[in-house]
This record gives sequence, structure tokens and C-alpha cells, in this order.
Amino acid sequence: MIDTHLLQQSFANHFGGEAAVFFAPGRINLIGEHTDYNGGFVFPGAVTQGIMAMILPNAGRNVNLYACDLQRGCSFNLMDEEGPAETHFRYVYGVVRELLAAGVPVQGFDAVYGGDVPLGAGMSSSAALESCFANALNELFGGGLDRMTLARIGQATEHKYVGVNCGIMDQFASMHGREGSLMRLDCRSGEFEYFPWHPDGYRLVLVNSCVKHTLVGSPYNDRRASCERVAALAGVETLRDCTWERLDALRPQLDDEDYRRARYVLGEVDRVLAVCEALGRGDYEEVGRQMYLTHDGLSKDYEVSCPELDFLVNEARRMEVTGARLMGGGFGGCTINLVRNELYDCFLAEVQRTYRSRFGVDCKPIPVAIGDGAHQTKP
Ligand code: GLA
Repeated sequence: MIDTHLLQQSFANHFGGEAAVFFAPGRINLIGEHTDYNGGFVFPGAVTQGIMAMILPNAGRNVNLYACDLQRGCSFNLMDEEGPAETHFRYVYGVVRELLAAGVPVQGFDAVYGGDVPLGAGMSSSAALESCFANALNELFGGGLDRMTLARIGQATEHKYVGVNCGIMDQFASMHGREGSLMRLDCRSGEFEYFPWHPDGYRLVLVNSCVKHTLVGSPYNDRRASCERVAALAGVETLRDCTWERLDALRPQLDDEDYRRARYVLGEVDRVLAVCEALGRGDYEEVGRQMYLTHDGLSKDYEVSCPELDFLVNEARRMEVTGARLMGGGFGGCTINLVRNELYDCFLAEVQRTYRSRFGVDCKPIPVAIGDGAHQTKP
């Protein structure tokens, strides 16, 4: 839970005045990993954890921020070309600069913010931060931009100010989430559909390996570059449009690593569609089977797992959990698990016990509830 009282107190201490309050969530993703920047499908939902910001325009040209969780502040001028050096504050700086470039008349403001998305857990705390400010500043300064444009502003922030060439999934989910629904987004066309998510008899739970993941400076960009090389050779814009036949025909020209990256992506595009069909029949066992296949691909072909995540998924498999896989970009963070109700408590107790005895540290279960996208909570 976000401590709204602490935020209020902090705003009063640092700035004072009646601030408007905005919230934007982190996300989960049922299936469709590393498909977004390949023009494929993703299947995310917003969670109830997120970032909350109290914001008040200050009639000047300076932005003054205080991050409660870091207990640190930062100020920059709207016209500052460089911006703050610290990555954390560059998320807000980037959003401000991109909004200005899109013609939103952002003025100076004071803001205090904090959240309850665990950092480095692969639940998109950075997208929550970007979406919270993109939506808030668009509202407060009458930008009139639609939600997809705001999501793209968050994504551009990652690319240009942080150096992560991410896809659109995280910012999309944070902007478009709806309580009780997952969303299937076609990242090639931008079309999406809400799927009510009430898996009778099952629950979703994340298990945080507590291996801190960061995509900044990680091989995430290398994975994307591999995919782009194969797409260029195949003569398609993104791997979404590459067929299995085409990939097989190209195989002799590809180095093995690029081939395996592409094989994973083509498989994952197919798996999202298989999951949609299975959901239509209410066949959650099949959904879970596909999740395990995704993990195997992410671990062996895409190589974005780590021993801790592999261990968590293997434990789930051993205990006959319906489905489990690493979630998000990889290199640490959480697994997402689809667990039958009767197995739920036993699975969590057992996995915590074995994880501790194997790695000497605790993993942390995070129950999932599907919540709403970015919104204002107080005028
Ligand atoms: C990160 C990125 C997303 C997506 C996932 C992997 O979360 O920000 O765009 O590529 O990794 O599916």
C-alpha cells in the first residue's frame, strides 16, 4: 500500500499548497514476452501497485521533485538541455521534455511521489513513473493527448533519456489497464482488446527472486539488435512477419545465437494466440502449459533467465503448479505463476523454504490483483 499520509506530509514539508494527486500502476504479463518490439502480441494487465504523485504548478519554469522512496530531491529547468544525471530523475525529466516536444504547454511544478511497485522486480516501476507523470502533466496543462500517445512518450523517454530500447508493452499497460481485465495488444497495429480475467479455481501470484533486474546497460538491447538483424535478412519490418519457413531457409546464413533468438520470438507469437484460444475455452491447464514453454524459450533460446528464476520455475513444475515462467525483460525479477486454489498455500510455503535453502536468501510472493490504468485520484 502506498502511504498517502506520508506523501501529503512530505509535500507540505517541501513545498506546501493544495496539490492534485495522480496514480499509475505497474503491470503483469500473462504471456507474450519480448514480442512487443518485434511487432507481436502481448497480454498484460495493470496491477494495483503503482506510483502516486502529488503535483502543483508553481507559476515558474522550474520542476522541483522529491522522491519519497529515495528520500532525495532534484530540480531542473524546463529548458535544460541535459537534465539530471541520476537515472531515476531522468524518467520524469524525459517525460517533461517529450511532452513539451509534443506541444503540451508544460509549466514549472512541484511534485512529491512514491510507490509500492517493488523496484527491480520486473513489474515496470519505471513505466508506472513515466505514465503517472505523462498522464498528470497532460491533464494539468491541458495537453489533450490520447493514452496511446502518452504511452509512446513514456517509451521514448526510455529510449532517449535512459538508453533502454524497450517496446510499448509496459507503458501501454500502465496507461490502459482496467480492473479485472487483461489486454491483448497487437504491437504491430496498436489494436487491443480487453479480456475479463476471472480464472475460476486458479490464482496468479508472482514470486520475486529478489535478484534485482535492471534493463539499463543490460543485454536487453542486444536481444533487440539480434531480432532486427534477422528481420532485415528476412526482408520484413519485424519478426512478427517472418514465417517459420523463411526462418528455416535463412538458417545457414545466421549465426546460431541470432537464429535461436528469432526461433524464440516466432514461437512466442504463436503461444500468445494459443493462450487466447485456450482462454476462450476456459482451459487454464493449456494456458499454464504454454507459460512453461515460454519459460523454456526465454531460458534456453533467448537467454534472459538466471539460475534463481530457473530454480523457481522448476520448483513450480515439481509441485505441479499449472503454469510458471519468468516475467518481463528477465535477468532477475519475478516469476509469474498460475496456481490451482488448493495448491496455493502449500506451493508458496514450499517454494520459500527450498529457495532459502538453495540460495541462502528469501524470495517474496506477491499476490496479483488486476487494477485500473493511470488516473487522477484527487483534483
Ligand atoms: C521490458 C520492456 C518491454 C518488453 C519486456 C519483455 O519490460 O520494457 O517493452 O520488451 O521487457 O517482454
